Amino acid sequence: MRYRRMPIEVESPEQLGYGNIECNLAESSVSDGLFSQLGLKLDDLVLMYGDHLGKPELRAMIAGEGPLLHAEDVLLTVGAAAALFIVSTSLLEAGDRALVVFPNYATNIETPRQLGCQMDYFQLSFEGGFRIDVDALIARITPETKLVSVTCPHNPTGTMISENDLHRLVEAVENRGCRLLFDETYREMSFGTALPPAASLSQRVISVSSLSKTYGLPGIRTGWILCRDRSLMETFLAAKEQIFISNSVVDEEIAYQFLSRKAEHLERIRAHIDTNFGILKAWMGEQTDYEWVEPQGGVVCFPRIKPESGVDVEKFYSILNTVYKTWVGPGHWFESDRRHMRVGFGWPTADELTRGLNNITQALLAAKD
Ligand SMILES: Cc1ncc(COP(=O)(O)O)c(C=O)c1O
Repeated sequence: MRYRRMPIEVESPEQLGYGNIECNLAESSVSDGLFSQLGLKLDDLVLMYGDHLGKPELRAMIAGEGPLLHAEDVLLTVGAAAALFIVSTSLLEAGDRALVVFPNYATNIETPRQLGCQMDYFQLSFEGGFRIDVDALIARITPETKLVSVTCPHNPTGTMISENDLHRLVEAVENRGCRLLFDETYREMSFGTALPPAASLSQRVISVSSLSKTYGLPGIRTGWILCRDRSLMETFLAAKEQIFISNSVVDEEIAYQFLSRKAEHLERIRAHIDTNFGILKAWMGEQTDYEWVEPQGGVVCFPRIKPESGVDVEKFYSILNTVYKTWVGPGHWFESDRRHMRVGFGWPTADELTRGLNNITQALLAAKD
């Protein structure tokens, strides 16, 4: 396998330095949690190797999210990132066919591609409302397809599939004998009713998620794989043991104590997302050079500068970044036209979001021919 740094990581706000950014609309999570505000008790923690699957009580808590899930169906990983890596490297080899929604969170494409898989991209389009047409996706499954990879709510567009479509996709994957990787890292930030954890529906489904996005805890690097196929879980555990043996017991304990008060945290987080989404929606309604597909979940969307707007795209980014010190996720992070950009509305405060959006308006005006 070849490793190559992805632009989304090289140019990420944390690599750029938060101090260089005044309005950060480049994140895909809610605001990062402050340790001192979490009311954690860690003094009695023994700094040993943890259970290789992950802290049992934490796994039981995560399994409690879905019917038919047990603690044994949960493998804790270093973020959803490590979960995705473990799944791809365990299931795929050079020459295998992977059917992957495109665009996507970069790792979902990069890892199978660098493993040498034959990539079948399922392209979403702005004109098609970035809709994942499940019938069309199912039609692309071939007898050689090993893995179908879907992110929902989708990154970078925030679109979702219905529960009925999820069931049909799962059925198709079962009938064709392949597997579904369902990246549901934004699941708990669905605007309507959240889908059930996809892995609860079938042994052929692998769900991946983490505490990074909904809960703003990317710094504790705690994610997981959910899978009801025990023999596959043994392989995933073997991969985990070879890469990092176990998660940090400190991170696991923080995650456990945090999730023990999950309802309280979720209420606060959802209120913040609602407020910010309202600001974004009102601002979008006023735009003439800019258009979007309204997201259905998560805290990102993927609007674009209208092709007919006469805005010089490179000039726009240059002004936005250098004059206004405002950052968004440019299209090339997702191997897409730079006319598109991912706007993250969950991370900034309402005030920072308002300023950031106004800065986009100013940069669009200034970059017109
Ligand atoms: C869809 C999706 N999956 C996985 C990840 C990885 O996140 P983490 O490793 O912090 O859980 C991200 C991060 O942006 C993401 O957007």
